Amino acid sequence: MRDFYEAFYNRAARSRVHAEFCERVYGNNLCQHGFTNMSQLCALIDALQLRPDQRVLDLGCGSGMIAEFISDCTGAYVTGLDYIPEAIYQARERTRHKSDRLAFVVGDINDLDLPACHYDAVISLDTFYFSDNYTRAIRKLSQTLRPGGRLGIFYSYGREPWVPIEQFHAETLPPECTPLADALIANNLSFHTVDFTSDDYLLAQIRQQVLTDLRPRFEAESLMFIYDNRMGDAVGIAQAIEEGLHKRYLYLVQH
Ligand SMILES: C[S@@+](CC[C@H](N)C(=O)[O-])C[C@H]1O[C@@H](n2cnc3c(N)ncnc32)[C@H](O)[C@@H]1O
Repeated sequence: MRDFYEAFYNRAARSRVHAEFCERVYGNNLCQHGFTNMSQLCALIDALQLRPDQRVLDLGCGSGMIAEFISDCTGAYVTGLDYIPEAIYQARERTRHKSDRLAFVVGDINDLDLPACHYDAVISLDTFYFSDNYTRAIRKLSQTLRPGGRLGIFYSYGREPWVPIEQFHAETLPPECTPLADALIANNLSFHTVDFTSDDYLLAQIRQQVLTDLRPRFEAESLMFIYDNRMGDAVGIAQAIEEGLHKRYLYLVQH
């Protein structure tokens, strides 16, 4: 996946068709590469009740446009972390004039080195999938939170297209039974969840329609690797939701 993200962040920022894709699918072009549209992002900001004096960590921030949006909306001091140096470079360059409330670091979710008791909130928008040990990652995030700090994690979970239906354990789909829930429970963290599955289904359908409309322009910009990746996700998710084997949750944790 790393090769994909290197190519993605190298090309997406300057692409007109990708900007239009994001505007039409997510409601605003923040160079998104997850499933979090603007209404989900605003739901997260509301749930976390971020204030100007607070510190926020955005895990897997990409080129940092979501972190910048959150800081612009709330005044919070947001640090973005991602493992793609080009994405972090773009974020730093674009937000130079906002460096009093935005910082970006290259880091790996599998090798987190975070200050203890530092952040008021940690957010992860479709990035937990890249952790190879959820329990360890949650422990590190929990240690970097100040007392009363909050975690907000957008997490989709379900049958991947290559897993035969009969081999997928549907009993792990409820929000308290997913691998992420297991990791939170293992860290003695209580949580509540908001179910965004129907929103995810709608988004997957819109994504397929918009991609079909824009396909000639993805071709013209030689960005079919982005088109194929986005279309593959959208088709896979729509199909898994129709089978009742895919869920999308916002996990909210108070430390
Ligand atoms: C699905 S995208 C989500 C990006 C953004 N949060 C959003 O919602 O649009 C996943 C992001 O996680 C980053 N990522 C993947 N593996 C990572 C890792 N091991 N450590 C840090 N970041 C990682 C990718 O570079 C990418 O920016």
